[in-house]
Amino acid sequence: MTSFRPAPGWLADAVFYQIYPQSFADSNGDGIGDFNGITERLDHLAWLGVNTVWLNPCFKSPFRDAGYDVSDDLAVAPRHGSADDLAGLVDEAGRRGIRVLLDLVAGHTSDEHPWFTAAADDPADDRYIWAPEGLPEGFVPSPGTRPGAYLPNFFAFQPALNFGYAQGNPAEPWRGPVDAEGPRANRAALRGIMDHWLGLGLSGFRVDMAASLVKDDPGRRETAAVWGGLRRWLDDAHPDAVLLSEWGEPEVSVPAGFHADFFLQFGGDTDGLALRSLWSNGTGTVNEAWAPLDCFFDPSGLGSPEPFVEAWRRAHGALGASGFISLPTANHDFSRLNCGPRTAEQLPVAFTFQLTWPTLPAIYYGDEIGMRYVPDLPDKEGSVLGPRYNRAGSRTPMQWDDGPNAGFSSAPADRLYLPLDPSPARPTVAAQRADESSLLHLVRRLIALRSVAPELGPDGSVEVLHGGYPFVHVRGGRYLVVLNPARKSRSCRIDGVGGARPLEAAGVRLDGSSLTADGFAYGVFDLDG
Ligand code: NOJ
Ligand code: CA
Repeated sequence: MTSFRPAPGWLADAVFYQIYPQSFADSNGDGIGDFNGITERLDHLAWLGVNTVWLNPCFKSPFRDAGYDVSDDLAVAPRHGSADDLAGLVDEAGRRGIRVLLDLVAGHTSDEHPWFTAAADDPADDRYIWAPEGLPEGFVPSPGTRPGAYLPNFFAFQPALNFGYAQGNPAEPWRGPVDAEGPRANRAALRGIMDHWLGLGLSGFRVDMAASLVKDDPGRRETAAVWGGLRRWLDDAHPDAVLLSEWGEPEVSVPAGFHADFFLQFGGDTDGLALRSLWSNGTGTVNEAWAPLDCFFDPSGLGSPEPFVEAWRRAHGALGASGFISLPTANHDFSRLNCGPRTAEQLPVAFTFQLTWPTLPAIYYGDEIGMRYVPDLPDKEGSVLGPRYNRAGSRTPMQWDDGPNAGFSSAPADRLYLPLDPSPARPTVAAQRADESSLLHLVRRLIALRSVAPELGPDGSVEVLHGGYPFVHVRGGRYLVVLNPARKSRSCRIDGVGGARPLEAAGVRLDGSSLTADGFAYGVFDLDG
């Protein structure tokens, strides 16, 4: 196995915070979030204690897939401000000890990207994948003077960049090798894009559809080789930068060259199930292909932590010290934690799990106050992928306060990028900042606890003492974590917990070797007293 430079030291302590730029904070009153809006709200992030922000794509784009259709990878989208505004954001974040990651859309561009418009008129161009004639299945007719059709990577307007095919097929003459001119040019272009942004002070990238590069690639061996080459370049040129993959199979992506991968709503059979088996209660963003399940964080108590713990064990064992797994609360493609019948009282136990399990936590903006997934929104910039697969519900404006438009924007409400959660009881940052018993304060204290107790981080050991409900584990031989996501009280017997000192707890009673957890109870205890 190829060895890479060890991940930069800061990554083990990362607490990620994902910002969907359209919806975080609007500084100029046009209803769309922007860089200066984020800069103005950095104090919230610093107060919360997160230290690594990931911005969804903020590049020039026709925004038919919310910016995942990039038309110039080196230019920022005017809707978000100027390059100087982004530089100012990175600078101000750095002053507060916060790093900023961008989204790298590696596998495709917009059909308005100049590389693609050139390719559509030039039969010799091989930056994209073109069938010279006809319309093979899955291809899209050429929009230019060039005959034939091109292969899309996601939506039809997102042509796949050509990184080659892992295997040929004489019946499909468009299959080129991975070392052809086009794939080499595309790999060089990725290096150029990364170099540009890292040179401006960015700290790395979340890589979109990282597994998609080389086509017909069993086991993703050739795709892994591409990332391995890019990682070796990065190790030399930018040793302090990181690459996080949208791949959803850490045991494949990290050996390929990523510093970390996410458990995602999709992914290999086991890993994809891992995240949904924790959070997904069958409402919100649902792909019809997903088999219904009882998730662990469901008040019925019918779920199990097993699918997640097993997937984590397997991936963690495969990775060793070579990289990390990140556990998100949600993301821009998947339901928020507070979704469907789940209520605010069920969120603290979920966050206690997320912030104490040996993974890198990723908090999706607004989840720290329990913002709700807003159902049934109309399609916005490609948000609807299927009858129940609507991503807009997780992309609504951040709820800063109870002023007009929740403090997100001074624009008229009907000009906001997406409507606000219409619920009159919607949570706000301002109200929760003023209330020490709020979810926001709990999340802040749990993050602070991680920073003083390295045993709670991704490298500390974990020993499960009781599976199911309550779920009880010990981190680093010292910190006892008790979780009961069920509505009903649950108890178990565990020797020697009676004297443990509560660091953060609600509804958990330890008495000799008896442990009782009320419905939705959570606790982190110090076994050393
Ligand atoms: C994954 C991104 O997270 C999603 O939002 C996007 O639509 C697709 N990749 C296509 O880029
Ligand atoms: Ca704006």
